[in-house]
Amino acid sequence: MMVTKRKDNLILGTGGHAKVVLAALASRGESAQGWVDPRPELVGTRIAGVEIIGTDSILEKLSVKTTLLYSGVGAARDTRRRAELFERCRKIGFCFPALIAASAEVSSSASLGAGCQILTRAVVHPDAVIGNDAVVNTAAVIEHDCRIGAHAFIGPGAVLCGGAELGDGAFVGAGAIILPGIRIGRNALVAAGMTLRRDLADGRKVVR
Ligand SMILES: CC(C)(COP(=O)(O)OP(=O)(O)OC[C@H]1O[C@@H](n2cnc3c(N)ncnc32)[C@H](O)[C@@H]1OP(=O)(O)O)[C@@H](O)C(=O)NCCC(=O)NCCS
Repeated sequence: MMVTKRKDNLILGTGGHAKVVLAALASRGESAQGWVDPRPELVGTRIAGVEIIGTDSILEKLSVKTTLLYSGVGAARDTRRRAELFERCRKIGFCFPALIAASAEVSSSASLGAGCQILTRAVVHPDAVIGNDAVVNTAAVIEHDCRIGAHAFIGPGAVLCGGAELGDGAFVGAGAIILPGIRIGRNALVAAGMTLRRDLADGRKVVR
């Protein structure tokens, strides 16, 4: 009989978003075997009982076959750090599984990219497409036929109405409402609480 080694779940980062990722894993009855943090002085310490096993340089030494990565890098407004780390790790050969919190609801006809995160009580409705490494944060709603680009970050409680499109790396703040069919460009930003009625071009920011 072939014995396959259990894979280790590692979380990149130790900030607020990383803790939410740990909670999503726990909701599925899984745990993390380590954190990776850029600060050398933190290596060997523990957060929530899980050890910080190394800085980013440890990624070059780990086995891509027995390690699964989860990005714990948040995006207060800028998704670039998250995107860079994800692409760097994928180039090394690491796998980022899609993470769906136990309380989230995802339609069977939705398509989920590698490493996307559908967090506590979020809803993803039929035929929505969620890109690689995109985050659908706590209680956000992605309606039918929405297309969410890679590394996009959707804040808690935001609502994307049917057919809305979000470009790669775009950011939608907490509680924002994106009306049906609206297109948001790459790396554009919608402030928390906004109702967006018009398309937003690449790299543009709208706060009111
Ligand atoms: C838009 C945002 C990124 C701030 O951008 P900023 O360029 O730093 O803007 P500032 O804070 O300097 O504010 C600029 C102006 O916009 C206003 N403003 C900022 N955010 C706003 C918002 N969400 N709604 C309404 N007005 C807002 C400010 O009051 C300020 O107005 P003033 O010029 O009349 O004083 C931030 O307010 C925001 O919405 N972040 C999203 C946070 C979030 O949802 N995180 C989820 C992570 S889990």
